[in-house]
Amino acid sequence: MADRESGGCCRCCFSFIITLGLTSLFMWLSLRADNPKCTIKHFYLPALNKTLNDSKNSTLIFELKLDNGNKDKGIYYDPINLTFYDNPNVSQSLPMGNFIIPGFRQGQNKKAKRIESLEVNRTLATARAFPNGSAVFRVDMATELRFRIMFWKTKRHKLILRTNVEVDSEGAIPKDHQKKGFRLKSGAPEHWGGGAQIGLFVGLMVLVLLNFR
Ligand SMILES: *[C@@H]1O[C@H](CO)[C@@H](O)[C@H](O)[C@H]1NC(C)=O
Ligand SMILES: *[C@@H]1O[C@H](CO)[C@@H](O)[C@H](O)[C@H]1NC(C)=O
Ligand SMILES: *[C@@H]1O[C@H](CO)[C@@H](O)[C@H](O)[C@H]1NC(C)=O
Ligand SMILES: *[C@@H]1O[C@H](CO)[C@@H](O)[C@H](O)[C@H]1NC(C)=O
Ligand SMILES: *[C@@H]1O[C@H](CO)[C@@H](O)[C@H](O)[C@H]1NC(C)=O
Ligand SMILES: *[C@@H]1O[C@H](CO)[C@@H](O)[C@H](O)[C@H]1NC(C)=O
Ligand SMILES: *[C@@H]1O[C@H](CO)[C@@H](O)[C@H](O)[C@H]1NC(C)=O
Repeated sequence: MADRESGGCCRCCFSFIITLGLTSLFMWLSLRADNPKCTIKHFYLPALNKTLNDSKNSTLIFELKLDNGNKDKGIYYDPINLTFYDNPNVSQSLPMGNFIIPGFRQGQNKKAKRIESLEVNRTLATARAFPNGSAVFRVDMATELRFRIMFWKTKRHKLILRTNVEVDSEGAIPKDHQKKGFRLKSGAPEHWGGGAQIGLFVGLMVLVLLNFR
C-alpha cells in the first residue's frame, strides 16, 4: 500500500516537473523581448565640411534609426534623450548638444527613422577635428521602454546606449560606412528577462491546479 502510494506520488511529481518545465520554456520563449536596434545612420556637421567653407555654421544634422525586430511585440518609447559629446573618452568629454525625441509607439517588426537637427557648441565641435579633417564624436542615448505583449504592457525598462561616430573631412559619416552607420550599444545584456518571472508564475498556477485534481 505504502509502496503504491509513493510510486503514484513519484509519477505525479515527475509529470508535474515535466509540465512545469515545458510551460516555463514556452512562456519564456513567447514573452521574452529583444531591445530595438538603434543606429546613427546620418551625422553631418557643416562646420567641418572643408569644401563648404562654412566654419560659422553650428548645425548638427543626424538620423536615428530604431528597428523593432520583435515579430509580435510593440514598443512604447518614453522620450529619447540624445547627448552629443566632443570626445569618445567618457572621462575627458564635454557635451556639445542635446536633443530629445518625443516618445512614440512602434508596432511589431517596424523600423522608425528620425532625421533631426540641432545647434551644437561649435567651438567644441571644430576643436576636435584632426589635421586631416576627420573627427570622432560620441553619442549617448537614454530612454525607457515598455513592450506590448498581447494585451498588456510590461513595466518600464531602461535602455542606455552609446556609440562613437566618425566623420571625414566633409563633416559627415564616410561614404563607405553610411549604409552600416554606427550602432548604439550597451554593456548590459540585450534581452528582457521578465518572461522568466511570468513563466515561474504560470508554473505555480499549474502546481495549484494539479494539487486540486
Ligand atoms: C560639403 O560641401 C560641399 C560643397 O558645398 C557639398 O557639395 C557636399 O555635399 C557637402 N558634404 C556633405 C556630406 O553634405
Ligand atoms: C572661405 O571663406 C573665407 C571667408 O568667407 C574666404 O576668405 C575664403 O577665400 C574661402 N575659401 C574658399 C576655399 O572658398
Ligand atoms: C548650416 O548648414 C545647414 C546645412 O547645410 C543649413 O541648412 C543651415 O541653414 C546652415 N545654417 C546657417 C546659420 O548658415
Ligand atoms: C539627457 O541626458 C543628459 C546627459 O546624461 C542629462 O544631462 C540631461 O539632464 C538629460 N535630459 C533629460 C530631459 O533627461
Ligand atoms: C581617457 O581619459 C583619461 C583621463 O584623461 C585617461 O587616463 C585615459 O587613458 C583615456 N582613455 C583613452 C582610451 O584614451
Ligand atoms: C562651448 O563650450 C566651451 C567649453 O565648455 C565653453 O567655454 C563655451 O562657453 C561654450 N560655448 C557656448 C556657445 O555655449
Ligand atoms: C585622420 O587622422 C586621424 C588621427 O591622426 C586618423 O586616426 C584617421 O584615420 C585619419 N583619417 C584619414 C581619412 O586619413
